[in-house]
Amino acid sequence: MLDPKMPRTFLIDTDTASDDAVALIMALRSKEIRVAAITVVAGNVPIAQATNNALYSAEICNSEVPVFAGAATPLLRELTIADWFHGKDGLGEHGYAPIKRRAESTHAVDAIIDTVRANPGVEIVTLGPLTNVALALSREPSLAKSVKRCIIMGGNPCCEGNVTPAAEFNIWVDPEAAHVVFHSGMNIEMVGWHLCRGEAALSLKDIEHVLALKTPLAEFAIRCNSLAQEAFFRQTGERGISLPDPVAMAIAIDPKLCTSASQHYVEIETASELTRGKTVVDRLDVTSDVRNRAVWAQARANQPNKIHICWTLDIAAWKSALYSALSS
Ligand code: BDR
Ligand code: CA
Repeated sequence: MLDPKMPRTFLIDTDTASDDAVALIMALRSKEIRVAAITVVAGNVPIAQATNNALYSAEICNSEVPVFAGAATPLLRELTIADWFHGKDGLGEHGYAPIKRRAESTHAVDAIIDTVRANPGVEIVTLGPLTNVALALSREPSLAKSVKRCIIMGGNPCCEGNVTPAAEFNIWVDPEAAHVVFHSGMNIEMVGWHLCRGEAALSLKDIEHVLALKTPLAEFAIRCNSLAQEAFFRQTGERGISLPDPVAMAIAIDPKLCTSASQHYVEIETASELTRGKTVVDRLDVTSDVRNRAVWAQARANQPNKIHICWTLDIAAWKSALYSALSS
């Protein structure tokens, strides 16, 4: 039985670039949770750079959390990075680098297995492609039942994607890994890309507000997203800084921030190039209809449980959680 007075335990898997770094700050600064491990996966930037960025983020939070480097490539495909969005170093090309901290020698996949075994009831937050988590679950399928919640920043349950019209980056990079994780029986909460757009993105006024906090963390959070801010405008025509990973982290820390959610079967497209990585959500439960059985029965039979999908966000509460993490 977990002691409700003890801080909850998180494991964070991340392809650390600019928005991941802000999400790490939120977790490492929270009094409600203890981060047992940060595991790093290749995604936004290659594995060595992502690991350095995670170490740097931990260092500026004065955190001793162990950081483990993991998969350098997706399960079956070549890695496609997003330096066009986050900058070559993933942090806006301002020369950030860890001074003291070094990664542990254990591989991230072993670290995930060890951490879940040592902390039954752990909550996993994934902020990058799902390669590390898929490898851990393939090796130890029973881990799925020891994880209380797995909050996944990924997918586009209702709307357009950010890499292709069909897919969001984290799922698109390694769709086979996403397929393994979504079919693992783990208790998954999906925080899609739609939740960080529009009013949920930091407006120019919000950015001024953060800078007025005048703390090193607030200054870093805005500066490391400088290139991401420009890329987001080119991509969507929306001004401001969009922060998908911090939104997912805010919901992970305080589930009340998700103001509407429902449970559905979700399939991940791995065969088509056109719709690679699409998160196909059966929102109307039409797979249970006899007319769809021929195509969908297998997919449905292979998914032991439904996925919890967050549709809407308490935007004021999300921004206030962010500001409070950056305010000292
Ligand atoms: C996701 O892709 C990455 O570029 C971000 O870090 C985030 O995890 C958004 O699609
Ligand atoms: Ca990320």
